[in-house]
Amino acid sequence: MRYRIFAIGIIPALCSALAFWISSTVEHNRVGAIADHMLEQVNNRALQDFYELADRVRDGMATTVELPSSMAPFVSSRSLSEAWRFAIDLSDLDLKAIPSATDNATLNLNFHSDNQQFRIFLDSEAWLQALCTDLGFGDLSFSLVYRDQSVFVSGGPLPDSDVFRQDDFIFPQLSLLIDRTPVIEGMYNNRYPMSLAALTFLFILVLAEKFQRQRFRLKRSGERLRAVEAELEQTSEILRSQMEVTANNQKELLKRNYELQDINRTLEQAKHQISFSERLANLGEVSAGIVHEINNPIAYIGSNLRELESDVNALRGFINTLDKASDGLDVHSEFYKTLLAAYQELNVQDAIQQAPERLEDCIHGIERVRKIVQDMKRLSSRGNNEMTLCNLNDDISSVINIVKSRIKGDVELRTNLVELPDLVCNASQISQVLTNIFVNAIQALEGRRGLITFTERVQGNSIVLDVCDDGPGMSEEIAARVFEPFFTTKDLGSGTGMGLSLCYKLIDEHNGWIELKTTPGAGSCFSIHLPLDATQENSNVQ
Ligand SMILES: Nc1ncnc2c1ncn2[C@@H]1O[C@H](COP(=O)(O)OP(=O)(O)OP(=O)(O)O)[C@@H](O)[C@H]1O
Ligand SMILES: [Mg+2]
Repeated sequence: MRYRIFAIGIIPALCSALAFWISSTVEHNRVGAIADHMLEQVNNRALQDFYELADRVRDGMATTVELPSSMAPFVSSRSLSEAWRFAIDLSDLDLKAIPSATDNATLNLNFHSDNQQFRIFLDSEAWLQALCTDLGFGDLSFSLVYRDQSVFVSGGPLPDSDVFRQDDFIFPQLSLLIDRTPVIEGMYNNRYPMSLAALTFLFILVLAEKFQRQRFRLKRSGERLRAVEAELEQTSEILRSQMEVTANNQKELLKRNYELQDINRTLEQAKHQISFSERLANLGEVSAGIVHEINNPIAYIGSNLRELESDVNALRGFINTLDKASDGLDVHSEFYKTLLAAYQELNVQDAIQQAPERLEDCIHGIERVRKIVQDMKRLSSRGNNEMTLCNLNDDISSVINIVKSRIKGDVELRTNLVELPDLVCNASQISQVLTNIFVNAIQALEGRRGLITFTERVQGNSIVLDVCDDGPGMSEEIAARVFEPFFTTKDLGSGTGMGLSLCYKLIDEHNGWIELKTTPGAGSCFSIHLPLDATQENSNVQ
């Protein structure tokens, strides 16, 4: 409100005052310039009259002095005495008019000769006053100054300032000073400044009102804007906090997701392990039946084959003896002919030669079947192994020695045995597992240059045995199946596919587990994790 009063009341008033001041100053200057021009005319006229007077005086010296009509009433003729008028040889006079003030209104003009003096008294005030009236100025204040001495002052003392001064009067020492103020005031018209001030007031008032309205509108818009800003700020704050919550939720979700994935993986592994164990168990049960059924036939086929082998050997000896004895027989005898026919028909020679070989194949085959059956038996047998507290390093050293003897070609075996704590286990089974894994590594490196490394370490509550090779490695599909019974990639007859499944079972019976890391073309690493006390359930089982 105070601002409104200031804007609508004070500002237009101040502006109109300023406009009034500026326009009145301009008007004053304009009027002053006109006045100066007019006063210059007064001065020039006075000058002209004065010169004329002086000329007349001078000229009049010879005859009579006739004053200019304009000056006549103001010149005292009291000095122009008859005696003087004719007595003076005016030609001798050095006519210099020297004005001097005799009284306040009279100017005494002295004209000098060597010893002659002629003076005229001019009633200056009356003369100049008449001059002004003649020029249309009416009453003016004058001051006639001679040698900086005021000769006279008309109409009261002149103000210090605002005086028109023209020094170039008839004599340099004489100056006419005219008060400009009444002239300017007479000419000055304050109608224009007043109108301008009024117009300015109105204009600024309208402008201020408009400005005020604009300002009010702006203020309201600003307030609205601020309210919207505050609302926006609030909304963005809410959004920010919601985003934070969302981000936190997302993080939490992600964490949960990872946890879930971990659990899933563990579950998947557990499922896989369970199904694998189930399959093993089923297989074990089936195997147990088959093993039971074929174990005896295999046993007697084996022993019979061995019997048969000695029988065949005996028969071969007998036939050889018969062969030699037949050499003394009469080739025409009926016995010889019958024997020869039988000999040729039965192809006895070939049979004698091939029989041992065939028998050998049979014995080898039955041996192989017996081994498979033994493995199956072991696979199906329930864990009733004797576990004792022992230090594995002794058994591991002898396994390494055996393995070394099986290495052929350009394959190096590097071992790093460290001090191991005692652990409860079945040492011969661990040796068997290690042998199987070593043999697989040697077989994987067959026909190529390679390196097998064996390292031991204690990790938490377990002993870990690592067997690594830089062989061909395995594809994901093969790696997923290596522990399955009868799974083999080896040629028919050279691998049973029972090695790793047995290893798995044996280590499982120790509550341990086998970890396989393999990269195709780079090699494989089998890590056997054995809990220090195999009788305790291992929580690390994967
Ligand atoms: N170190 C290894 N490098 C590459 N492949 C391997 C390695 N060890 C095992 N395997 C693969 O795993 C398969 C199964 O091995 P496992 O020992 O069970 O059977 P096998 O060696 O084929 O036959 P067996 O051991 O009965 O003679 C192998 O056929 C082979 O493909
Ligand atoms: Mg094997």
